[in-house]
Amino acid sequence: MLNHGKVYIIGAGPGDPELLTLKAKRIIDDADVIIYADSLVPEEIAGFAKDGARVYGSKEMALPEIMDVTMQAVAEGKTVARIQSGDPALYGATLEQMRILEAEGVDYEIIPGVSAAFAAAAALKVELTVPEVSQTVIMTRAEGRVPMPEGESLVDLARHGSTLVIFLSVTRMFRIANQLQDAGYPADTPVAVAYRVGWPDQQIIRGTLADIARKVRDAKITLQALIIVGKAVDPNLLDPASDERVAVSHLYSDAYTHLYRRAGQGSHADADRAELYEAGGYEVQPEPTTPTLAAGDD
Ligand SMILES: C[S@@+](CC[C@H](N)C(=O)[O-])C[C@H]1O[C@@H](n2cnc3c(N)ncnc32)[C@H](O)[C@@H]1O
Repeated sequence: MLNHGKVYIIGAGPGDPELLTLKAKRIIDDADVIIYADSLVPEEIAGFAKDGARVYGSKEMALPEIMDVTMQAVAEGKTVARIQSGDPALYGATLEQMRILEAEGVDYEIIPGVSAAFAAAAALKVELTVPEVSQTVIMTRAEGRVPMPEGESLVDLARHGSTLVIFLSVTRMFRIANQLQDAGYPADTPVAVAYRVGWPDQQIIRGTLADIARKVRDAKITLQALIIVGKAVDPNLLDPASDERVAVSHLYSDAYTHLYRRAGQGSHADADRAELYEAGGYEVQPEPTTPTLAAGDD
């Protein structure tokens, strides 16, 4: 069994090297072999490699070649950093690599990264899940060379009316805008296209389903862009005066009791702990309820 070295499949984030996790940076610093997706990961990140590390750009390598380099290094007891863009779990072609590593009994670990989806939301200054606007995010792509599984066409997904984050599809902007309108999104639905987020030439284009395709064509954007569709990306939501119908999250509401704060306490001191609590899948309890905060609870 080839099991002397170790392979790390690393999410490098959207491009900005400062969005690497500390763990990713440490592994890249120490790796003997770096194989990085040089179409989407900047050279600067591969440049963290130590002196003497072997560095490969993978954009012109086919999977067998990538895996040959990987296996050879592992057999020599070396550490391999396979650096991919964003988070490896999204459109990362990660499974096919893991299957080979599993079949060969190679020790490997995945290091998550900041997906372009979240980097784009940050660049746009939007929350993808706004109470009573959208509580669901669908990450998808338009059908192209890769066929969509049954029930996952844009028309099927559009039925939910939720926030859509569409990868790998900006060349199909006209078709997407038409399909979404045909499927029920109003023509004035806000859309943002985020091009090369985290790179020096980042561009953000905002519009609606009615005009975004033309704007994207005029900006000559044909790759490395994300399309985000839905009311949650309406820039007017940021204006406190613009829309009184926007509900605030129960999480920080003074009227709600939850594990870390009683209603009416008026203090947000424990808000971060409350967020952790909600992230665990527990419901925030509306008043009136018996306060759940008991001595000794943490
Ligand atoms: C092969 S997928 C990789 C996605 C990646 N795993 C992630 O989590 O962001 C490549 C697609 O992700 C999106 N993408 C990746 N990096 C991007 C960036 N810096 N800005 C905007 N979109 C990006 C684009 O839709 C691009 O076509």
